[in-house]
Amino acid sequence: MLDRLIAELSSHKPLDASRQKALLLAAAALVEMRDPITAGHSVRVGNYSAIIARELGLIPDIQSALRLAGLVHDIGKIGVPKAYLQKPGKLTDTEMAEIRKHPGLSYEIVSEVPGLIHIAQIVLHHHERLDGHGYPGGLTGDEIPLGSRILCVADSFDAMVTDRVYRSPLPVSEAIAELERCAGTQFDLAVVEGLRAYLLRAGVRGPWCTT
Ligand SMILES: [Fe+2]
Repeated sequence: MLDRLIAELSSHKPLDASRQKALLLAAAALVEMRDPITAGHSVRVGNYSAIIARELGLIPDIQSALRLAGLVHDIGKIGVPKAYLQKPGKLTDTEMAEIRKHPGLSYEIVSEVPGLIHIAQIVLHHHERLDGHGYPGGLTGDEIPLGSRILCVADSFDAMVTDRVYRSPLPVSEAIAELERCAGTQFDLAVVEGLRAYLLRAGVRGPWCTT
């Protein structure tokens, strides 16, 4: 895959939008390969995002856009030292500042592809919080694009239920409880409820279920 990618990037022929999108996805997959612990994360975030969009009644085109946004949301991590991304202990302020650059870098990369500026905007704001304490814009509430609010919940849910260097995975029920606890400050409640509704229907039950 790497050989083909380099050959494409080295060619002098202008690439059409679909070829550029294919290269973007290949690059996103390569970025994820740098860190085996997060392997598969972007695909899952894309899937969860599309599912939540469907639960919220959003049209299929938006579901597809969110699947793509999930696939490329962390592509900007290519510009962050690997040692910071995989550090098991507490990050220094400098290291954290470097990691916080990744949504902006993702935006710069994705927005280069013709027709994907709307995906780039969603990706740019996937670490914003409803209370304004997120990054990079410190946006609040509805200032944060709905797609970014969906991506944020999908990203956080997947991070909680999978293994990370600093902790073991949480059970799904505990992850949902944590999302609900942080709804209104960090996460959009309607988005959290969309994910919860899907998981309940899919047969994943937890202590929140009273029926
Ligand atoms: Fe991210």
